[in-house]
Amino acid sequence: MKLPPHLSTRDGHLWIGDHDTVALAARWGTPLYVTDEDRVCACYDAYRKALSCYYQDIKILFAAKANGNAAVLRALAGLGAGADVFSSGELHLALRAGMTPDTLLFNGSSKSPADLALAVARGVTVSVDSLDELHQLQAIAAQSGAIARIAFRVNPALEVPTHPKIATGLATSKFGIPHAQVPDAYRLALSCDYIRPVGIHCHIGSQILATDPFARAAEVMVLIAAEITDIGVDLAFIDLGGGLGIPYNHDSDPAPTPADYAAAVMPVFLEGIHTAGIAPQLWIEPGRSLVADSTVLLTRVNSVKQAHRTFANVDAGFNLLIRPAMYDAYHEIIAANKANEPNSACYTVTGPICESGDILAKDRPLPFLAAGDVLAVLDAGAYGFAMASQYNCRPRCPEVLIKGGHSALMRRGEVFDDITATMVDPPWHLRPS
Ligand code: LLP
Repeated sequence: MKLPPHLSTRDGHLWIGDHDTVALAARWGTPLYVTDEDRVCACYDAYRKALSCYYQDIKILFAAKANGNAAVLRALAGLGAGADVFSSGELHLALRAGMTPDTLLFNGSSKSPADLALAVARGVTVSVDSLDELHQLQAIAAQSGAIARIAFRVNPALEVPTHPKIATGLATSKFGIPHAQVPDAYRLALSCDYIRPVGIHCHIGSQILATDPFARAAEVMVLIAAEITDIGVDLAFIDLGGGLGIPYNHDSDPAPTPADYAAAVMPVFLEGIHTAGIAPQLWIEPGRSLVADSTVLLTRVNSVKQAHRTFANVDAGFNLLIRPAMYDAYHEIIAANKANEPNSACYTVTGPICESGDILAKDRPLPFLAAGDVLAVLDAGAYGFAMASQYNCRPRCPEVLIKGGHSALMRRGEVFDDITATMVDPPWHLRPS
């Protein structure tokens, strides 16, 4: 199996950076998420370099939904990244990680009055998803006497090659304002005393392994940018949304790089802004492609069972990595302590959750397994821990960050008391004293 540069096999074990995954599993216990900070930074740098070959004025906003650990955001902030935040929680997280409000965009199709008030109070630009939201934002900004900077989220009506649950710019999607309504939306925004339209935003979907859809999105966006410039909008940025998909199947998925992305998108973007006579900043919001392959989920085999197929029952399930159950997603799995052994057997790797769908991988060629073996689920850094739950009252596992020879917790594992910590006894359940 092809491995990215930060993963290797040494002495029969899988290593991440300078660390033996089997030793990490022994030290911190399993299940365990392990993230390589240097890999995250290298992925960020690849985008920055690729885009800046074409255009200097760029901003990369990490999609915080992909990995919500403050340490990951802090590492990216150190390189100059901002963040796409999709909730007040993600906004707080980004600020806590040291990102400044001017590097954030508050996205979302269903923001509450409290979300809008927070964005206004912190001076964060809002991607507005409906005219109703615009009116509410104007009222909230007026109340505090602040000017809210906004972009409209445009629905570019593009079919894209990905799982239907994560195609976000289809004509039928819940996100964004239809193209035909966009000029009037900006006219309205221009007429609002407490609103300043400064940008335009779209997102076409996630896990897209072709560059052409991004180029088509850029085409639509520069066209709209020209239209709204004509009606008087002074466009400070065009935000083309998320980044590339990643090759979850290491040997057969295409693996477009940020350089491929830039080669497809930038000529369209540059020609479009030239024609429109504008020079806005280019924003992109990659999530998955910055963090997915930086992280392995280590899980230990609890038992092996021979039934209609052979099951390896492990200690991580869809409570910790929901992607296989939710999107039929494929993740490579390596027997971390038997990395040099031949794949002579075939296992369906199942988690500890009380649901038949709790399957991490079906019918995978793997070495002969036994209780105690450690499996590494690869490419778990995006929408992995971020989508974890406490289902079946399972405390969420720790996350470890490595950098060079260092390794440290970046999130402690939960304990049973964490599960009950937020529960409150209704008074009629309490015995009178
Ligand atoms: N910007 C916006 C507005 C988004 O909605 C998203 C992802 C991104 C940026 C980041 O896109 P990326 O670069 O990661 O493709 N849980 C799913 C993915 C959901 C993506 C939702 N939006 C999964 O595990 O595949």
